[in-house]
Amino acid sequence: MDAVWSRTARRGDDGGVSIGGADLREIAGEFGTPLYVIDEADMRGRATSFRDAFAAAFAPYGAQVDVYYASKAFLSSRVSAWMCEDGLSIDVASGGELELALRGGMPPARIGLHGNNKSDAELRRALEVGVGRIVVDSFTEIEVLDAIATELGVVAPVMVRITTGVHAGGHEYIATSHEDQKFGLSLATGAAFEALTACHDAPGLELLGIHTHIGSQILSHDAFRESAERMLGLRAAFLAVAGVELAEVDLGGGYAIRYTDADAELSPREAAEAIAGAVASALAKVGGTWPRLSIEPGRAIAGPAGLTLYRVGVVKHVSLEDGGQRQYVAVDGGMSDNMRTITYGAQYTAAIVSRESDAPVALSRVVGKHCESGDIVVRDVDLPADIARGDLLAVPATGAYGRVMASNYNSVLRPAVVSVADGEATVHIRRDTLEDLLDWDVAPPRTSR
Ligand code: LLP
Repeated sequence: MDAVWSRTARRGDDGGVSIGGADLREIAGEFGTPLYVIDEADMRGRATSFRDAFAAAFAPYGAQVDVYYASKAFLSSRVSAWMCEDGLSIDVASGGELELALRGGMPPARIGLHGNNKSDAELRRALEVGVGRIVVDSFTEIEVLDAIATELGVVAPVMVRITTGVHAGGHEYIATSHEDQKFGLSLATGAAFEALTACHDAPGLELLGIHTHIGSQILSHDAFRESAERMLGLRAAFLAVAGVELAEVDLGGGYAIRYTDADAELSPREAAEAIAGAVASALAKVGGTWPRLSIEPGRAIAGPAGLTLYRVGVVKHVSLEDGGQRQYVAVDGGMSDNMRTITYGAQYTAAIVSRESDAPVALSRVVGKHCESGDIVVRDVDLPADIARGDLLAVPATGAYGRVMASNYNSVLRPAVVSVADGEATVHIRRDTLEDLLDWDVAPPRTSR
């Protein structure tokens, strides 16, 4: 199968596709559809590629790099356990992600907590369990965290989230380091410097370093280079003025993946070399010793490893204004399990995985079962003209920001997530049931169910 599919995807002699040695027709039979399927070997392979590529690129400088898996891309306690076993750390962005990471056995010291608006309860819990770092995002948070730490009699390890002004990545909503948005403290206005001073002076805080994240789905090494240079410039300035050399610098995530054959992906090895080179040249320019580095890839670890498996329902042929035709293939899920198409105009591809077809291909659109016309999973894809009700259709590269952004729109049941390896499937998240749905609903008195 081509590069958009996860590493162990194979099409067998009878046309059926398997992942991790498990036939998707059997997986669909056992767990139902829609279903998110993770290729364990692929996801863990990508995690360890980042770990090894960054370790290798920074080793010549004697510098250490920690890879924090950005768990917002996809998290289950089993994924936390994988990351733990594979020597990664985890970035969490809410109290819920924190609990899942802990449940998987990730040591608190290897967990970093993010968020532009953490609640008191989230900050308190993070301090109580002893997370390794809290990335503070505002002056309010610096004050609140200092007070909670003092009350608990602990010192909170913090990094300051910096807005470097480097704007990179795909859609506006996933670019995060330009000025006019909610994250971070601005380098340009001096807020970043002020926040560093405030953290340094706060008795309840231990200032570990600085953090930035420039956006997502980034293909250019230049953006990472530029951001590394600005961050090291800030570190040097803080050393010059405050006499403190910050121990750690986190450069965030954002490594691009392939969603369709037309896309490229950022290779961990090349990115690691570019970033190591950028840090080395910035240090040569501004001075200072090597900090401990960290990065936070999410999509590039989880995305390519996951696919969504659907059952085809209705197939319709619609005439287009230009005289052509479009084949609408409706599946048993839609925008409730993949919010990315409608939210970011994301592009995907799809293929029948229950059989091979030698029918000619037709210009197709994969749509869901929701009550709106924007409910599109794959906008444009060539699919066989004999595609029919009952076929299994898979959309690859949905492992990141799929299940975690899923909703119950139209009161549908969110799909399960299973991983497969060595022919065995393991449930990470079970499918919602009708009982769940009725249970979440608080019925009025005198309604009999
Ligand atoms: N670190 C921080 C602080 C972040 O905010 C993010 C993503 C990451 C790391 C991981 O970025 P990645 O390597 O996965 O690109 N829902 C959007 C993506 C939003 C990403 C938000 N932050 C999507 O579906 O494309």
